[in-house]
Amino acid sequence: ESEQSTSRLMVNSSEKVFRKNLPAYLQATQEGWKVNATLVGLIRKDILRFLDAERDVSVIKSSFKPGDTIHYVLDRRKTLNVSHTLHSLLPDVSPLKNKRFKTCAVVGNSGVLLKSGCGKEIDSHDFVIRCNLAPLAEFADDVGLRSDFTTMNPSVIQRVYSGLLNETVRENFVQRLRLLNDSVLWIPAFMVKGGEKHVEVVNELILKRKLPVHMAYPSLRLVHAVRGYWLTNKVNIKRPSTGLLMYTMATRFCDEIHLYGFWPFPKDSSGNPVKYHYYDMLKYRYFSNASPHRMPLEFKTLKMLHSKGALKLMTSKCT
Ligand code: CTP
Repeated sequence: ESEQSTSRLMVNSSEKVFRKNLPAYLQATQEGWKVNATLVGLIRKDILRFLDAERDVSVIKSSFKPGDTIHYVLDRRKTLNVSHTLHSLLPDVSPLKNKRFKTCAVVGNSGVLLKSGCGKEIDSHDFVIRCNLAPLAEFADDVGLRSDFTTMNPSVIQRVYSGLLNETVRENFVQRLRLLNDSVLWIPAFMVKGGEKHVEVVNELILKRKLPVHMAYPSLRLVHAVRGYWLTNKVNIKRPSTGLLMYTMATRFCDEIHLYGFWPFPKDSSGNPVKYHYYDMLKYRYFSNASPHRMPLEFKTLKMLHSKGALKLMTSKCT
């Protein structure tokens, strides 16, 4: 299963399901939300039985030497060799070592963020996690600018930066990475075969241009551990989305987690269209069997956790 093969498909018929407004149970209520510290503690402890974000957030230098072979996490028959470039960028210690924050924002990429005015609120959190190197500057009012931890699937290089093959896109990419401003760039490089040449080009660029980022590459067990946790809690998620991975990891070091930009539905609660991403024209694809994610199921789960005070799921405008 290559990342490319999970291509974004538009399945028109499935959208009919969403012609009607969403049922009330999917509409998160924001008023009166209060964190349930006891529950947060219990969830953290429970998740720690499966993974420890401090350790699983990234492999570290001492675990590998150049030339070592890694079996892809979701494709065990295929392998990758640890290059000198990759090895030199592996962190010496976990980028989350001993980190603890009062409040964190996990920012998903749904179009529900457009016109939300949530930028200020998002930036006011102690730690801001963002997904897939989404653009910020043009959308700052709605999504903010602060980033402490940014994920990037290798496929982003192909899809958004044309494989970094020409000087213009390379420059755009370098500019985007400069905005990370000494924060963490997290690349799931060992999930599936297909992205290794992109990861190598990115790594070379970061070294050559001395870009201000701290690299992290998730451990080989992270996805299985996260899946295991949710499965034990009867949430059958074959392949957790980046957003769910980030929430699950954040429980380790955040006392209060606020989620923004999680809305995997083409319409809002009043029936108005919602873009899949706030920043591009990608279509909804998770209705198709080709998509590995179960975002609506994830959403329902997060919504339930919101109602219990375990996290805050923000799906409306910020006031
Ligand atoms: N998301 C959401 N609703 C959307 C789009 C995204 O809830 N309409 C959340 C998902 O948790 C997703 C995260 O925001 O993982 C980041 O979005 P995106 O960059 O689109 O991630 P994908 O590429 O879709 O999914 P992944 O990286 O997990 O393969």
